[in-house]
Amino acid sequence: MDFKTEIDRLKKELNVTVVAHYYQRDEVFDIADIVGDSLELARRCQDDPNEWIVFCGVGFMGQSVKVISPNKRVLMPKIACCAMAKMIDGTYFDENVKYLEDRGIKKEDILPITYINSDASVKAKVGEMGGMVCTSANAYKIIEKGLSSGKKILFVPDRCLGQNFANQMGLKSCVIGIGECNPKDVDVICYNGFCSVHQLFTVKDIEFYRSKYPDIKIAVHPECDPSVVALADFVGSTSQLIKYVSELDIEQKVAVGTEYNLVNRMRDKNTYVLSSTKPECPTMNETTLEDLYNTLKSIEDGKPINEIFVDEHTIKYAKLALERMLEVV
Ligand code: 13P
Ligand code: SF4
Repeated sequence: MDFKTEIDRLKKELNVTVVAHYYQRDEVFDIADIVGDSLELARRCQDDPNEWIVFCGVGFMGQSVKVISPNKRVLMPKIACCAMAKMIDGTYFDENVKYLEDRGIKKEDILPITYINSDASVKAKVGEMGGMVCTSANAYKIIEKGLSSGKKILFVPDRCLGQNFANQMGLKSCVIGIGECNPKDVDVICYNGFCSVHQLFTVKDIEFYRSKYPDIKIAVHPECDPSVVALADFVGSTSQLIKYVSELDIEQKVAVGTEYNLVNRMRDKNTYVLSSTKPECPTMNETTLEDLYNTLKSIEDGKPINEIFVDEHTIKYAKLALERMLEVV
C-alpha cells in the first residue's frame, strides 16, 4: 500500500491535525501539519481548532496536549515512552521531597520544577505543590521565576538540564545521589535522571572535532552533560539550535550535539553530528508511516486506537503546572 497517498486522503477527509516532533523520522516529519519542539507543540496544539490530534512523538508529549486541552481526542501512532521520563514517577518524586525534608527543608519551602519530559502524574505532584513545568526552551525563565518565590528549587527529572541552567545563572546546584549534596547549601537540587541519547556526546568528541577543524563551532542541547556544555560555543533547545545553525555562514563548519534525525536535516553543507555513533532517539524512531496510517484509518473506521486518557485529578494539577509555564513564556 502507498501509505503516503492514503495518509494524505485521510487527512483531507477527517478533521484531524497530524503533529510531529523534530526528532521523528523524515517521512513522518514531512507529512505532519504541525512540527516543532516540545514548547511549540504544546502551544500550537492548544490553539488548533480540530478535535482530533494525532501526535507523532513520545508519550509525555501526547499526554501534555490532553492535559492542556482535555476536550481534544489525542491519539498516538506509537505510545513510545521517553527513557528519561521513565526515570521518575510519583513515588520517586515523593521520596525526593522526603529527602529534602529529612535534611531540614520544609515542604512549603520547596518549589518543584519538572522538565516537560515527565509523566502527567509527576506534573500533577509538581502542580499540587505550587510548581511549574519547563522545557529546554524556557528553563532559564522558569527557574528565574521559581527563585523569585525565595524557595529552594527541586528540579526533576533531568540532572543535566538542572545543572546546566544553574551554572548559566550563576547558581549553586547538586544532584541527589551523586557526591556530596547538602540541599541547604545550594539553590537548585536536581533529581538524578538523564537522557541516554544526549549522554552519547562527550568532551572527547569535542576535542576530536576541534583538532580536525580548529575553527569549527560546537552547538549542543542542554540535556548534554555539563562537562560538554562547558566547552560548547552555543547551548540551546531544539528550535534554538535550528535557528543558530541556520544563521551561520554556510562555509562555517558546525558540529551539533543532539538527536540524529534533526541534525541530519539541518543543513546540506558543513554540519556534523557531534558523535562517532548515530545518536538516534530509539523511542522517537518507533513511529512509522504505517503506524500513522493505521491510526488515521482507525478514526475513519470509528474505532480509534492508542487514545490518550488522563484521569481528572491528574489533569487538574498537571494543567496548573503547565499553565503556570505557559503564562511565563
Ligand atoms: P525540546 O524541548 O528541545 O523539543 O526537546 C525535547 C527532547 O526530548 C529533547 O531530547
Ligand atoms: Fe527522551 Fe532523550 Fe529521546 Fe528526548 S532524546 S525523547 S529526552 S530519550
